[in-house]
Amino acid sequence: KRLSKLDSCFQRKLGISTAVTKTDTCNKKDEIEPKDGLKSFHSVQEERIEQAERSVLISCPSKTNENNFLKYLSRHGDINKCFFYESYGTYAVVEFVHKESLASLHQGTAIPTINHEATVPFKSRLLTLRQTGSVEMSSGKSGPLCQPQITIPMKDLILRLSNENSVDQQISSLTEMYQLTEENVCLRFLVCSLLKDIAAAYFPECKIRLFGSSVNGFGKLGCDLDMFLDLDSISGRNLKKLKAGFSLEYQTKRSVSERAVTQSILSVIGECVDQFGPGCVGVQKILQARCPLVRFAHQPSGFQCDLTANNRVAMKSTELLYLYGGLDWRVRCLVFSVRCWARSHSITSSIPGAWISNFSLTVMVLFFLQRRSVPILPTLDYLNKLAGPLDKCVIDGNDCTFVSDMTKIQVQDNTETLEQLLQEFFEFYGTFAFNRMSINIRKGQEQNKSDTSPLHIQNPFDTTLNVSKNVNVTQLERFVAVCRESAWMLQQQEFNAPRTNGDGTRAPWGLAALISPSASQVAKVKSRRAKKREPASERIKSLLESLKNKGKTASV
Ligand code: GTP
Ligand code: MG
Repeated sequence: KRLSKLDSCFQRKLGISTAVTKTDTCNKKDEIEPKDGLKSFHSVQEERIEQAERSVLISCPSKTNENNFLKYLSRHGDINKCFFYESYGTYAVVEFVHKESLASLHQGTAIPTINHEATVPFKSRLLTLRQTGSVEMSSGKSGPLCQPQITIPMKDLILRLSNENSVDQQISSLTEMYQLTEENVCLRFLVCSLLKDIAAAYFPECKIRLFGSSVNGFGKLGCDLDMFLDLDSISGRNLKKLKAGFSLEYQTKRSVSERAVTQSILSVIGECVDQFGPGCVGVQKILQARCPLVRFAHQPSGFQCDLTANNRVAMKSTELLYLYGGLDWRVRCLVFSVRCWARSHSITSSIPGAWISNFSLTVMVLFFLQRRSVPILPTLDYLNKLAGPLDKCVIDGNDCTFVSDMTKIQVQDNTETLEQLLQEFFEFYGTFAFNRMSINIRKGQEQNKSDTSPLHIQNPFDTTLNVSKNVNVTQLERFVAVCRESAWMLQQQEFNAPRTNGDGTRAPWGLAALISPSASQVAKVKSRRAKKREPASERIKSLLESLKNKGKTASV
């Protein structure tokens, strides 16, 4: 009964659906639904980590014959999955059925001898396939079929979207093209697992977990790899001490603070990644940041990696986003479209700065979906109430508890189309009272701002913090101006239906028009004009307003 309110596509996947009508517009939904369905975040993580531990990454000659290659490797055990991709050469990800096969594989693998160079004899699961003697590994003609690991270029995306027949289809197509593929997710977990092998040299029981967009359902092909070194399971702080008799403790090095310990661990592991980690290049230790990290590029996969430690809140917000993304198929579609739109207008950037981050933007979409007259998403307070005893989670004194079992969540019958939602998203934020109000997904309602930051998005797990503290007035104004411009564009006949060029090809329309470079030029001009037109008194009024609010909070 609880499931009956959940998305009908999910139900069908689970084999519990009722009749499917002809008018059902679910044809694209199957491709864009989260691959892991209603499984809890933790069970998906554990499964993927275990898969990755049975896998190896092999650099292959470009014309490797797939069949011969698999035959050769299956001497070590049965193979579950294998795929190829290109990144500075051809690589294969091979997943064995049993972990024991890796021991056999390692036994038959040599450390290379290279003239005039010495090698660090670190035996990892990143290997190179060499052709020796008479064994024919090459296919002679073309190489194996390679799975794409990056998104299509913007120009091609705009063309593809222009060829669709409705804005709804455009939004679904964009999601389909941008979202992480099954292979890309496997590769992400494998790279994380390879890194764990390095960290395990010091902390054998450690876990390295993925967080952020690699696993929250909103990741785009090519997004960075956020990793978190989890040492909590080692600490043994929860071991029960017997009342009488002896007990043993480890002798440990001590430091002044948790932060100092994190810094020293990341420093050593960063050094190790730099000196011993095959394929890891450009290692930077950014230990003075608010959240210390080690940044590097993993060349064989092409991933930009960030390794942090002691970052449990980020893990929790990742789980929350995963949950929200799984509740209704339209959530991910809208987030992908808004993120792509924001990037095309330089509202977001890959470099950190005074602009809105992808994370903030995602929270804004979630909030908007909570604010529909029939809400598409429930509030965090509601998710907190549904939590069971095992979901209890307190981090640094903050209650981060929410339900993990998606099937317990009742969602309401909202039937708005993606086009309506996108249009209304732009209208909602084009007219939002940013000067007075804060965005709060815990309550699902805007609240009076508690400080003077131009954009205030309450951190869901630490209500005293603002997720978008970095955003300045100029960037917020640009966001609002482009929202208004886009809302306007979507209403114009010229842009809201398929249109053709003189030569019969499609011209950018709908979502394609919104993200095409010319649209961003129009928006820039309009926003400059709007700025000129805005009377100084308006700006002063909003400044006074925020000062007044500040005064109020100070006096409370
Ligand atoms: P990409 O741009 O695709 O990498 O999105 P992302 O969600 O992975 O963002 P990013 O790599 O910047 O951050 C990784 C994760 O850290 C996010 O998903 C959040 O869980 C968390 N995070 C990032 N920025 C903030 C922030 O300002 N506040 C809080 N509380 N968490 C953040
Ligand atoms: Mg990220």
